[in-house]
Amino acid sequence: MKRIAILASGSGTNAENISKYFQDRAEVEVSLILTNNPDAGVIQRARRLHIPVILFDKVSFYKTDRILNILQQSQIDLVVLAGFMMLIPGNLVSAFHNRIINIHPALLPKFGGKGMYGSFVHEAVAQAGEPETGITIHFVNEHYDEGRVIFQASCPVNANDTPDDIANRVHALEYLHFPQVIEKVLTELPLPG
Ligand code: GAR
Repeated sequence: MKRIAILASGSGTNAENISKYFQDRAEVEVSLILTNNPDAGVIQRARRLHIPVILFDKVSFYKTDRILNILQQSQIDLVVLAGFMMLIPGNLVSAFHNRIINIHPALLPKFGGKGMYGSFVHEAVAQAGEPETGITIHFVNEHYDEGRVIFQASCPVNANDTPDDIANRVHALEYLHFPQVIEKVLTELPLPG
């Protein structure tokens, strides 16, 4: 059994989609959902899915090993960032080397970096008049959106698209691909111990 922890800061539609995908697969479990945001929609989604939720604050994330200890004690194999808006601290990056993955709602290296998340990305894409955008799934290092790319998929941007139109198209790509990419990464992980 492989165990996943999901970190999310917002609505959590990806977290829910991933959790539902693996509920039908005995060999993988979403064991924990962690959030830094007490108002995040992901908390209610996790409760409905009967997945334990852990709320943490900035100080415990950056200045203590609380989250690292929780992940290790829960024997987490892979950490998945699904709409998580904080930079991952060095203690987690080192302990989970190549075992933290993120989804970004654009074709990195375009429209990445600090401040480029969620709807801000789609606004920037619309404003730049890009003919296409998409998703990037990548390993996480200590810099925003810079780790090794695992997977990308693209979709068109039409001249009259609003940021919401773009967001909807990008979300559809995320729902389609993210669970399967996670599954593939898990099969390629070394066995623990
Ligand atoms: C997703 O589109 C994800 O790619 C993006 O936030 C959204 C979360 O939606 N992530 C980032 O921007 C990270 N830089 P959700 O809460 O409905 O899953």
